[in-house]
Amino acid sequence: MNKPLFIAGTRPEIIKISTLSNYLKSKILFTGQHFDKEMTEFFFKLIKESKLVELGSDNYKQGSHELFINDIKRKLEDINPSSVVVQGDTNTTLYGALAAKSLGIKINYIESGMRSGDINQIEEINRIIVSGLADLNFCNHKNNKENLLMENINEKKICISGSTVYSVLSENNLMNKNKNDKFILVTLHRPENVDEKEKLFSLLETINSIGEKITFVTHPRIQKFLDDNSTEHYNNIYLEKPKNYFDFINLIKSSLFVISDSGGVQEESAILRKPLLIPRKFTERPEMLNIFNILVKTNEELLNESKKLIKGTSFLKNIDNKKLLYGKAEVIDAIAKRII
Ligand code: UD1
Ligand code: UDP
Repeated sequence: MNKPLFIAGTRPEIIKISTLSNYLKSKILFTGQHFDKEMTEFFFKLIKESKLVELGSDNYKQGSHELFINDIKRKLEDINPSSVVVQGDTNTTLYGALAAKSLGIKINYIESGMRSGDINQIEEINRIIVSGLADLNFCNHKNNKENLLMENINEKKICISGSTVYSVLSENNLMNKNKNDKFILVTLHRPENVDEKEKLFSLLETINSIGEKITFVTHPRIQKFLDDNSTEHYNNIYLEKPKNYFDFINLIKSSLFVISDSGGVQEESAILRKPLLIPRKFTERPEMLNIFNILVKTNEELLNESKKLIKGTSFLKNIDNKKLLYGKAEVIDAIAKRII
């Protein structure tokens, strides 16, 4: 019998679909949008019961996105799935959904309905288009459903399921506590933070001035700025290559707190009860703000909030008692039951 086919292409997509695709024993079409070993193979380990099929095309990397959609279409025709499942807001999410739609294949869309309100953000455009194309939108939170209703998406096409992230941590036995070491964990990859060297380096200057040891786990998008050793004078900042999932989660758990513009890291830090500062102007997860994390819109705010966390005067110190917002392990069953 034909089954739903997952389409994924980046590190967070592999992570977030892993437990659901394992549960359904489905195939995963991996598009190769991310291509470095540490962004791809490191995470294939999470895929245990399902089978990974590689697209085997260079067209995304070459910037030939129309050809890339055609490559996905050809694979869909070969595999002939009962439906597709896309997740998140990447270009793979969009192109996977477009390829499926053009072949009349039904689309399940996980993590639907998040909105940043910034239409200049490529991911916001991807989210809006894919939620319109989807036959069933799975939302993490009631606020996401509200966003979809405001865009006139039919209520019958919306299901509040919760997020798959909790299950990824629990099924990989990553929920236990580590002792706190004395360092702050940092990740940065959003274009608004890292695409201009000046912006990135002023952020690093501020982070360095917090005065604690900083473990900065880098993303390939910023490698071009780090090759010339120009970060050497930031004497508190220790650069690390991208980590595998287990090592990275252990870093979250053993850190004092996290500074990150990553969506996935926000969810994991909340589940692991680790305070997080988001160096951005907006967030797609506003319901978490001032409960699990704080939006720091300027370098000055970042420095002030960091100092409060170090002194223990931040209200985020009560994070252990807060109710999680996106569900727990039951989410996998809830999605599996409804999937088209
Ligand atoms: C993509 C997603 C973003 C997601 C992020 C997760 C889009 C538009 N963006 O951003 O929503 O949060 O993944 O990490 O889909 N690169 C490498 N090796 C890799 C991957 C990327 O060198 O394995 C470099 C390349 O120079 C590439 C650049 O990073 O051109 C950007 O990669 P891309 O996949 O387009 O976007 P990300 O910044 O990774
Ligand atoms: N992650 C990882 N190793 C790293 C950095 C991040 O395993 O070196 C994981 C992290 O735990 C989270 C996901 O990758 O699950 C987040 O990916 P990213 O920040 O690239 O994307 P986003 O979630 O912002 O789309």
